[in-house]
Amino acid sequence: MSALRLSLSVCLSGIAVLAAPIPSVTFNKDILPILQKNCQTCHRPGEVAPMSLLTYTDSRPWAKAIKTAVVNRKMPPWFAEPVANHFANERVLSESDIAKIASWADNGAPEGDAKDKPAPLVFPDGWQLKPDIVVEMPADFQLPATGTINYQFIRVKGNFDRDLWVTSAEMRPGNSAVLHHGKVWIVPPGSKWMADAEYGVPYEGRETGRNEAGDGNDILGKFNPGLGAQDFSIGGAAKFVPKGSDLVFELHYTAIGKATTDRSKLGIVLAKNPPKQRYFLSAGPTASNLVIPPGDGNAEVVSEVTVGLDDAKLVYAQPHMHLRGKDFELRVIYPTGESQTVFKGKFDFNWQLGYDFAKPLPLPKGTRVIGISHFDNSANNAFNPDPAKEVRWGPQNWDEMSNCFIGLIFDVKDDAAQLFRRSGPSLLAPGRSGPTLAALETR
Ligand code: HEC
Repeated sequence: MSALRLSLSVCLSGIAVLAAPIPSVTFNKDILPILQKNCQTCHRPGEVAPMSLLTYTDSRPWAKAIKTAVVNRKMPPWFAEPVANHFANERVLSESDIAKIASWADNGAPEGDAKDKPAPLVFPDGWQLKPDIVVEMPADFQLPATGTINYQFIRVKGNFDRDLWVTSAEMRPGNSAVLHHGKVWIVPPGSKWMADAEYGVPYEGRETGRNEAGDGNDILGKFNPGLGAQDFSIGGAAKFVPKGSDLVFELHYTAIGKATTDRSKLGIVLAKNPPKQRYFLSAGPTASNLVIPPGDGNAEVVSEVTVGLDDAKLVYAQPHMHLRGKDFELRVIYPTGESQTVFKGKFDFNWQLGYDFAKPLPLPKGTRVIGISHFDNSANNAFNPDPAKEVRWGPQNWDEMSNCFIGLIFDVKDDAAQLFRRSGPSLLAPGRSGPTLAALETR
């Protein structure tokens, strides 16, 4: 329908040109506002995208590529299918914006009148937030020129002499050429994870134990290309950093052909007033028992947790899989038996996108939160490291994972350790495949 409308208008304007000049689509009037709103966070110097789209001079050579990318909905990257709830960080171009870009590119990409140009967006240099506190890795991490670098875990002394409530956080790489992604964990006093680690020393193989609900380790900051600062203030909430906590930097580096270093940091903004709600990021439904048969082009894996608090509300979802990941659905089954899909979308390993719920979604105690993922372990998957392999859970890209990080808010007086318990399919011993949707009956 939209394609029809588009070709019709192009055809009409073609006729109109013969009679009288028509107001045509120009960069300054029509295209720049679209780029400012939807593209420039990534397409500017020093950010993740390969080229800048800040100005006409920057954008003009890319006119045809821009058209192709938006018509195919490759850009801006956004994978959520429309479901009942909306996302606050939705990045989807309207049909009319796509049509404008297409006709601009097709008509020779004119610049237009300088007076139509909106004021340039101002991007604060470096931090996207104004940090009250900055915590930096105490020493440079030394990267070799080549080879696989395992995940690194570095414990950093917190020096927090009082409880902190954090409304937003931003992790920034010291060297964005090498940090593929990273996290900064809150490790409260008494947590067993990394308890024996020396400050500032990089450790490997410490993935296990960081998501133990009873240990209270929460993710304070995250870095993924294009993710930017994270805000926790939805519903008046904030993240809790108990007095005496340490931080652990979890870093996934990629070698770039020459030896180099990185020293990443985390900036946080503190709440002005004590909040009523706490924001907590959980690993969510997790399929550490997954088995993906060799060659299977559509292997299904299902995982589940059950809510243990009375007043938890879902505010964020970020599916996580590796190179064989195809798609992910997050479904909730309420104690009444009623079920609802709250996220569904294609998965692309290069874009570990997170989805902010526009409105907190209450998850009453006893609600089952289900992750449903599909993997392509066939030779048709160009990213597949080895289609002949039976794949299990593991930290490396050639292993797989299936979980969905979920952000929840709940009363500050609640015990985060009671938030979820693993249930249903996530309790099964690994079989020959799955566990699949059929295992939902297992309770
Ligand atoms: C979240 C960050 C992000 C946003 C937002 C974004 N891009 Fe990109 N874009 C990238 C990255 C990274 C690449 C290079 C990797 C790739 O092609 O997937 C890219 C690649 C491109 C390419 C090159 C594609 C090719 O075929 O080589 C074009 C054209 C493009 N973007 C246009 C846009 C336009 C137009 C918008 C806004 C409507 C936009 N992008 C929004 C990050 C982004």
